[in-house]
Amino acid sequence: MTSDTYYSNGNEVQLFEQAYRQRLPVMLTGPTGCGKTRLVEHMGVLLRRPVVTISCHDDLTSSDLVGRFMVTGGDVVWTDGPLTRAVKAGAICYLDEVVEARHDSLAILHSLTDHRRSLYLDRAGEVVQAPESFMLVCSYNPAYRSSLKELKPSFRQRFVTLPMAYLPPDREAEVIVAEAAVDPAVARRLVACATAIRTADEAFHFEPPSTRVLVTAAHLVAAGASELDAAEACILAPLSSDGAVTDGLREVAVASLAPADTPNSAR
Ligand SMILES: Nc1ncnc2c1ncn2[C@@H]1O[C@H](COP(=O)(O)OP(=O)(O)O)[C@@H](O)[C@H]1O
Ligand SMILES: [Mg+2]
Repeated sequence: MTSDTYYSNGNEVQLFEQAYRQRLPVMLTGPTGCGKTRLVEHMGVLLRRPVVTISCHDDLTSSDLVGRFMVTGGDVVWTDGPLTRAVKAGAICYLDEVVEARHDSLAILHSLTDHRRSLYLDRAGEVVQAPESFMLVCSYNPAYRSSLKELKPSFRQRFVTLPMAYLPPDREAEVIVAEAAVDPAVARRLVACATAIRTADEAFHFEPPSTRVLVTAAHLVAAGASELDAAEACILAPLSSDGAVTDGLREVAVASLAPADTPNSAR
């Protein structure tokens, strides 16, 4: 399994490719660790385009995206930012967690998302026309309740939105087996543990355990940890910075796992 192996969860691969062919920008939404980044990497390979990833944060300025004049050896020269480089290269530009960026920094994207398909470098006095192969992809997690930020509806409506979710249990277990080389029975129990938490009454208190944490837990099991210890460290502990995990929920979660004293060979 390579880092671009992607297990699809519906028609998102086809819709992504259709959007690419029609030169439409895509917005991936869904909980953390559900495969958004993995999908973009996979599509880069499938469409034979490089992927330029930009992680958004609230200090990100439009200059960080497009570039700026810099002094090098006494000369003042324009230096392209990652967005400009991605446009010029006809790459897939992936703005990860775009909701973290300030609205005024995102305004620079508007002319790339409509029929103009161009980037206005006002300071450099240049307009960069995007080649056919350029694609803009953004992601965000709409359910991230601790964030006060939201994307403007007018911004969201510029994109083809592909809502993503965790895979069905059997498929999610396949991912875990492929990523961490654990026994399928171990993977199924870790998925059952996560499912119990995701479907618990209290689930609205926290960001549910993701496929990512299940893969991490499986790596610990592969290294010899018990399922209970791995689940505690990777699945339960990250839930509860504010003590949201009740004893009841913990019991339900670990009920699906092999007991701590189960020898490896018996799992
Ligand atoms: N559909 C999937 N196919 C393959 N691996 C996946 C999938 N979903 C999640 N994973 C696993 O979970 C990890 C986190 O996925 P990632 O794409 O980084 O999540 P996101 O970008 O949504 O936060 C990946 O590195 C991979 O191991
Ligand atoms: Mg990601």
